[in-house]
Amino acid sequence: MTILAIETSCDETSAGLLEEKNGKLKLVKNVVSSSVLLHAKTGGIIPETASREQLKYIIPVIKEGLEERSIKDVDALAVTYGPGLLGSLLIGVETAKALSFAFNKPLIPVNHLMGHIYANWIDQELEIKFPAVALVVSGGHTDLVLLQNHGNYKWLGGTRDDAAGEAFDKIARLLGLPYPGGPIIEKLAQDGNPNAFKFPRPMIDSGDYDFSFSGLKTAVLRESQTIKQMNSESISNICASTQQAVTEVLITKTLSAAKRFNAKSILLGGGVAANQKLRDDLKSSINGSSELFIPPKALCTDNGAMIGAAAFFLGKPLPFRKLHANPQLYFD
Ligand code: KG4
Ligand code: ZN
Repeated sequence: MTILAIETSCDETSAGLLEEKNGKLKLVKNVVSSSVLLHAKTGGIIPETASREQLKYIIPVIKEGLEERSIKDVDALAVTYGPGLLGSLLIGVETAKALSFAFNKPLIPVNHLMGHIYANWIDQELEIKFPAVALVVSGGHTDLVLLQNHGNYKWLGGTRDDAAGEAFDKIARLLGLPYPGGPIIEKLAQDGNPNAFKFPRPMIDSGDYDFSFSGLKTAVLRESQTIKQMNSESISNICASTQQAVTEVLITKTLSAAKRFNAKSILLGGGVAANQKLRDDLKSSINGSSELFIPPKALCTDNGAMIGAAAFFLGKPLPFRKLHANPQLYFD
């Protein structure tokens, strides 16, 4: 079975091609065109700019995605239909509908958040055992989900305000650093002291699976206003201390959910999962009762392949006329 999957929920235009062999998903091609450099100029995403870029790149990206195969070899199409920016989602959804109609291919709508979780199944040699606890950490979402099986899941909790990636992006902005904040904070944190500032660990002991990161942003703002001469050393220290606070909260809550639900597997996904400190610290905190799965970095940030993987395991094709983009889509 060959799946061509399209992802355009935000500022990446992507087409992924996956093949299933003996129940395993093999990545054939994953083409990602990002408009992130344009957004760096404006310090964040302007939705109109993002959707115009989607329109510009969707056809070349799909063409490149199909370089090694023909559309005739494709058994099913998959597309992100939410959550995301409406204008961006529409480009992918309407293109997928047109392809489904023109080439008479089944079309599988995919929840972007499920895509981040299912990135873990791509080129995966090991069996991912259930129950599994998944932490989705992206620019728009921070969620803990319990998966009992494919298609049988329960949302455990999520952020009450800013997502982890959003906190990185906003903190970077207030420090005068470019968008997106996560990668630059990670880079500068390498030269900083993670204990230089004792920033809050919001909701770390709340006993539930919710998160809150907006207070952290305010704490960083206040602290930075007290620094007389901001220099590269103080910026690095703020970055390292911010990264420490965010990763500590994410890891504590994930491990507590894994323990409570006897998770055999812990799955990480989303753009923030590309953060090396989060990857390393989570790995070293796991006590052995759960197996940890983290996708390669290129499959953590938005991409088409992860949408194809979710479609493969959860796929329910829909007649193209019935498919509509849904920017507010969440976990059911
Ligand atoms: O999943 P994603 O590509 O898009 C959304 O679905 O939102 O995530 C983007 C988010 C941004 O907030 C970005 O700052 C963050 O992921 N991010 C990182 C890293 N790379 C991307 N955060 C921390 N460390 C990174 N290396
Ligand atoms: Zn995403």
